[in-house]
Amino acid sequence: MTKIPIIIDTDPGIDDAMMLTLAFANEGALDVRLVTTCSGNISQDKTNYNARSFLSYIGADVEIARGLEQPIFRELEVAEDIHGESGFGNVQFPTPTLLVSNRPAVTAMLETILASDEKITIVATGPLTNVAALLLAHPEVKTNIERISWMGGAAVGGNMSPSAEFNAYVDPHAVEIVFRSGIPIVMSGLDVTHKAFVTIEEAKNILAIGTEFAEKAYHLVTYYLDVIKRTPFHEANYDQVLHFHDVCAVMYLLKPEYFKGQDCYVEVALEGVTAGATVVDYTNRSGKMPNVHVLHTVDRGAFVAEFVKAVEIISDRLE
Ligand code: BDR
Ligand code: CA
Repeated sequence: MTKIPIIIDTDPGIDDAMMLTLAFANEGALDVRLVTTCSGNISQDKTNYNARSFLSYIGADVEIARGLEQPIFRELEVAEDIHGESGFGNVQFPTPTLLVSNRPAVTAMLETILASDEKITIVATGPLTNVAALLLAHPEVKTNIERISWMGGAAVGGNMSPSAEFNAYVDPHAVEIVFRSGIPIVMSGLDVTHKAFVTIEEAKNILAIGTEFAEKAYHLVTYYLDVIKRTPFHEANYDQVLHFHDVCAVMYLLKPEYFKGQDCYVEVALEGVTAGATVVDYTNRSGKMPNVHVLHTVDRGAFVAEFVKAVEIISDRLE
């Protein structure tokens, strides 16, 4: 099987760590050439530290480069209310053995993409600041990028404002740059990620694996429960389920058959009360060329089973 060469840009973050779990459990299918950290859930200092401590802990051998400190125009807004002050709830990982790369994220991305014989796929699970900076500074990389699989946005609703999802809200200008780049984009927005949930009972199956890693994964994902924002507009069981948003961006590469989506023209609102809203023209009233493949449906049972398998694989590796 040919491996898909990927770069992961991430802001760990609880569900980012779960996304990394899935990616590094599937090294037979994915060739992770580089990990870069973006500012988002927490500051750059913390996302970079967390990426290095989590990936060191699970035994990954990969370069981890530090990304930009701030969104392109806006002041960084973090999500410590959801992910905790450290970004990993109450769970601690040992001091990282993986050191920060001496290449800044944009340089490392540029050189990795240009050096590759095959087109690179970018998985992005935070604000798109680093990816947008790369495309602005080095547009020559575009022809060697296969696609961008991004967790962010929403056709309907939001979780940071009434109409904006967190990653889009934090840096809407970066979304604009990426969406206009002409690179194929797959958007795992809240429309699909809210369907990619794990119930508390299913999370207990993770705990039942019985390893230290499985225990840490369980405590990470259940941390959300105490802090999740409940509104009358969410599903009735909203406080009973754990949303695995970022996992979708990697799962789609591994198991595209689990998902359904539609090619749509998507534009992002940059200012005002709707800043960060991704306006999805799913009826093509605008007549504009689709620029994003927007996912809306997932086979939840298969998704959960595949994720639990990933925790087992990493657990076995660490035993
Ligand atoms: C996104 O926001 C972050 O808090 C999560 O890590 C995920 O990337 C969900 O809206
Ligand atoms: Ca994230």
